Amino acid sequence: MQSHSTQTVTQAPMIDPFGRAITYLRVSVTDRCDFRCTYCMSEHMTFLPRQNLLSLEELDRLCTTFIDKGVRKIRLTGGEPLVRKNILHLIKNLSRHLEAERLDELTLTTNGSQLERYAQELAACGVKRINVSLDTLDAVKFKTITRWGDLNQVLRGIDAAQQAGLQIKINAVALKGFNDLEIPDMLRWAHGRGMDMTLIETMPMGEIDLDRTDQYLPLSMLRASLARQFTMTDIPYQTGGPARYVRLAETGGRLGFITPMTHNFCESCNRVRITCTGTLYMCLGQEDAADLREPLRASPDNDLLSAVIDEAILRKPKGHDFIIDRRNNRPAVSRHMSVTGG
Ligand code: 5AD
Ligand code: SF4
Repeated sequence: MQSHSTQTVTQAPMIDPFGRAITYLRVSVTDRCDFRCTYCMSEHMTFLPRQNLLSLEELDRLCTTFIDKGVRKIRLTGGEPLVRKNILHLIKNLSRHLEAERLDELTLTTNGSQLERYAQELAACGVKRINVSLDTLDAVKFKTITRWGDLNQVLRGIDAAQQAGLQIKINAVALKGFNDLEIPDMLRWAHGRGMDMTLIETMPMGEIDLDRTDQYLPLSMLRASLARQFTMTDIPYQTGGPARYVRLAETGGRLGFITPMTHNFCESCNRVRITCTGTLYMCLGQEDAADLREPLRASPDNDLLSAVIDEAILRKPKGHDFIIDRRNNRPAVSRHMSVTGG
């Protein structure tokens, strides 16, 4: 079947107008989620109609086209990627590119709720590292922040993933007055289990039910308070993402900071994102997009699709301009994070 081929003509790599090579593709395989984190979604979300979704075969074809064009790392996100029906089928198929050494890494960002079920199979597909989003280790707070989640289920998922040999990075969104005081304990917990941890500033994306000004905690402040408890040394560690890492002398573990609001890392951006309906976003923090579904469906070979991608990459903006609009409490970007996927 053509969509499952690994052999294709070598294409020119994707270089944007600022000289950045695009080697990292993030794919939101569903905008749905089994949680309703307060900073991410409103309680009553309207999701995309299912008939608008790309099929798993179409997602495979899209990913493969990007690999043909120089992408070396793919991250599946959502929503929650593991709630998409038959997602393992896509992951299994994409793993052929790992075997063929056309892809360096296939990974995912998950809320952990389905890991107990999927960890073994993910590892068998060549997934080596995953990011698990976890903002608190307090079961009551966990319920408050995720609205629908169950902390113990996630912790069992993390156990299963570690047993399967997957490396885990814990991603926590830093929320003022919610988890700031708990971060030191979370760090000791994560590092004690051999997991890296990364802190993320809240980004103003999509309508939520709360006021973001109340939640926003600049990581510079959190970092300063952590520095009073831990000895932190900057390290050059890079995972292809925007996090800046330090090592904590007390735990021996790594801590990353993702600071879209206070520090702009756009100059080294190597990524683009596609949604589950085949929309290509050249930047998480901008509205400009290109539809790939139509060229994908218009022709069985990938020439048209490839041309549309090339044209879009030429429009990749220099950077985002996230700002929390305090006066109007309006998001800087109207779509939710769950549409474009972290
Ligand atoms: N700002 C920052 N991080 C967010 N996430 C979801 N919504 C937001 C937001 N508005 C995080 C999740 C997860 C990752 C995919 O993005 O917690 O860690
Ligand atoms: Fe779901 Fe992740 Fe959004 Fe929480 S942050 S609602 S787990 S997509």
